[in-house]
Amino acid sequence: MGTLYLKYRPKQFEEILGQDHVKLLLSNAVKSGKVSHSYLFSGPRGTGKTSVARILAKSVNCDHPVDGYDPCNSCDSCVEIDTGRTLDVIEMDAASNRGIDEIRSIRDRVFYMPSKLKYKVYIIDEVHMLTREAFNALLKTLEEPPEKTIFILATTEIQKVPETIISRCQVLEFRRISPNIIRSKLEDVCKAEKIEYEIVALDHISKEAAGGMRDALSMLEGIARFSNEKVTLADTFSVLGDGPIETVESYITSILDGNVDALIHVVDSIKNQGTDVMNFLRSVVEYSSDRIKDDGLISIGKFAGDLIQILRYEEKQFDLFKVMSAFETLKYKKISSENVQPLTDQVRQVEKVDQEIKTDVERLIRFYAQKDLSVYVSLSEADLKDLGDRILVISYTLLQNEILKEKDKMITEDFKSVTSRDVRFVFAYSKVPIDSMNDKLREPIIKVLSLFGGKILPEGGE
Ligand SMILES: Nc1ncnc2c1ncn2[C@@H]1O[C@H](COP(=O)(O)OP(=O)(O)O)[C@@H](O)[C@H]1O
Ligand SMILES: [Mg+2]
Ligand SMILES: [Zn+2]
Repeated sequence: MGTLYLKYRPKQFEEILGQDHVKLLLSNAVKSGKVSHSYLFSGPRGTGKTSVARILAKSVNCDHPVDGYDPCNSCDSCVEIDTGRTLDVIEMDAASNRGIDEIRSIRDRVFYMPSKLKYKVYIIDEVHMLTREAFNALLKTLEEPPEKTIFILATTEIQKVPETIISRCQVLEFRRISPNIIRSKLEDVCKAEKIEYEIVALDHISKEAAGGMRDALSMLEGIARFSNEKVTLADTFSVLGDGPIETVESYITSILDGNVDALIHVVDSIKNQGTDVMNFLRSVVEYSSDRIKDDGLISIGKFAGDLIQILRYEEKQFDLFKVMSAFETLKYKKISSENVQPLTDQVRQVEKVDQEIKTDVERLIRFYAQKDLSVYVSLSEADLKDLGDRILVISYTLLQNEILKEKDKMITEDFKSVTSRDVRFVFAYSKVPIDSMNDKLREPIIKVLSLFGGKILPEGGE
């Protein structure tokens, strides 16, 4: 089946649904050769911003645009853009590259003419996440727009974009897509994928999606995987659950009860429903702020609020959401059973393993299970290489790398008190599992990292 929402990414304006005003404006601009230097696409997630940005990039560069504006998707330019082989269309996700360096490098490169295509196009997604410095650098670029260059900024939170940036851009608002349009798209996809369905099931999904086509397609995918023959209304209900409020309630209840099994069950159903983790957490905050007098709910609300901050910059959002929620649940389990059994089952399990623990780094990780859960989680998920006089810690998420780097001193001291060894800690981040690299590559990388720390990213990005 493939990931449906990627498989069905629109490749032409023609296929963009529910954004007629956007299509009209952009197609006229392309036809008349009056494309702006900078656009700002604003609107809810999954409504077509990234898709339209890519289509526009092809549109202005296409050798034989259909009807004078729609990319043909077969000329060299279209193909190069689609396969990501051109240097002239550059996509940047501000959610993971928030910094000044990336924007500076755009500024430095921006004055070179397109290397091959007619126009250079920069697409900056989630632009509201840029740091203030980066915004300033971007503003300078937008103030002196280089020739033959188009900026397309996209955001789900336009209120966080500085007015100075907004005023330099032509703003296009993407709207929520109507349930009718979504339902008929879902029907088309089911037919193309040979998925059988009850129309009432698709009806229900299109309402639940709240105007987002991506969410609708993710939900359909979840339900289709769950039901082996036919997407029925019954299946839809069991996968999507009782509805958002009930899911929020069961999430909170399982944490307060310290019930890890129930928690995992809720978390998995959130995933199956295709619900966005950040939106879910916002509902948790909302729910608890409505019931602020309830002690337990205040702390859950705060937990959810903190988690939103943490997850914003996180690539493995869902995994971390699951782990952090499970740990929060464990805390309550500990409190509720403090007198009867001093340690939770989970921690006791770790204790048992402890008796067989051999290495110093394992001892350190164990130590943090009791002392600092964020360090514990981060260390458990990292690769630790004991190199004698130093310990190299390779994290696979930026957040965990940051958490550990910040606590460098504490970790070094704790290691000394746990193992009586005085060593230096070096922290590094890698996008690829270090042990999956071949030997020729791994050895030198470990050597370099253990000297300097830092980040390694695979060639060519993702
Ligand atoms: N207006 C739309 N018409 C058709 N499909 C859409 C539309 N908006 C989103 N989609 C579907 O959702 C997926 C993600 O859309 P995307 O353009 O990345 O949304 P955004 O950037 O607004 O979050 C697309 O690949 C496509 O399958
Ligand atoms: Mg997008
Ligand atoms: Zn073309």
